[in-house]
Amino acid sequence: MEFEKVLAFRQSTRSFTEEKVSEKELTMIMNVASRAPIGMHNYQGYSLMTITNEAVLNAMIFSYQKLTGTDKNPLYKAPAFILLCANEHSIERLVQQDAGAIISFMNLKASELGLGSVYIFGMIHTILADDSWKKLANISSGYVPIAGLAVGHSKNPIRERPWVSYLTTSFIK
Ligand SMILES: Cc1cc2nc3c(=O)[nH]c(=O)nc-3n(C[C@H](O)[C@H](O)[C@H](O)COP(=O)(O)O)c2cc1C
Repeated sequence: MEFEKVLAFRQSTRSFTEEKVSEKELTMIMNVASRAPIGMHNYQGYSLMTITNEAVLNAMIFSYQKLTGTDKNPLYKAPAFILLCANEHSIERLVQQDAGAIISFMNLKASELGLGSVYIFGMIHTILADDSWKKLANISSGYVPIAGLAVGHSKNPIRERPWVSYLTTSFIK
């Protein structure tokens, strides 16, 4: 797909069908992380894991609901969640910047594949200290969950969006 089209199709999806996403597509999405810019070329500071196991996804949702006292599903019933973790090699002041680049690249790739996806930070931030879901997901103690991308097939057709100028821009000449 032409790059401008990918940008126009990229949008947050928060309503998914029950259809699974193929491992091939999920791998393609994870692979673009290695094309994302990372501070100080520190790719070794991160790893990605795709969670499709329902028990693990439910444990994350349950943890979020328990801690917030809501019944909101922070993953919007997406069948897959790509979790970014930082390890002991990560550079603290760069982690959130690197995460932005990695998740955004994956968000764009999902759009190119015609899949729905949404950047998830809030849930991870909320459930960070809860070890129960991490145990179930086999996340070892040296790995810190940072953010992720919920991925699935959108319930609603994903339409090309018109360009809107949300940010002020200027030149300093
Ligand atoms: C750093 C960051 C964190 C985000 N966290 C969440 C989140 O936890 N849950 C959610 O539904 N959307 C989340 N989003 C998605 C934004 O709400 C969304 O990208 C923004 O509203 C623009 O909409 P669009 O993606 O459709 O263009 C996050 C986006 C970014 C960049």
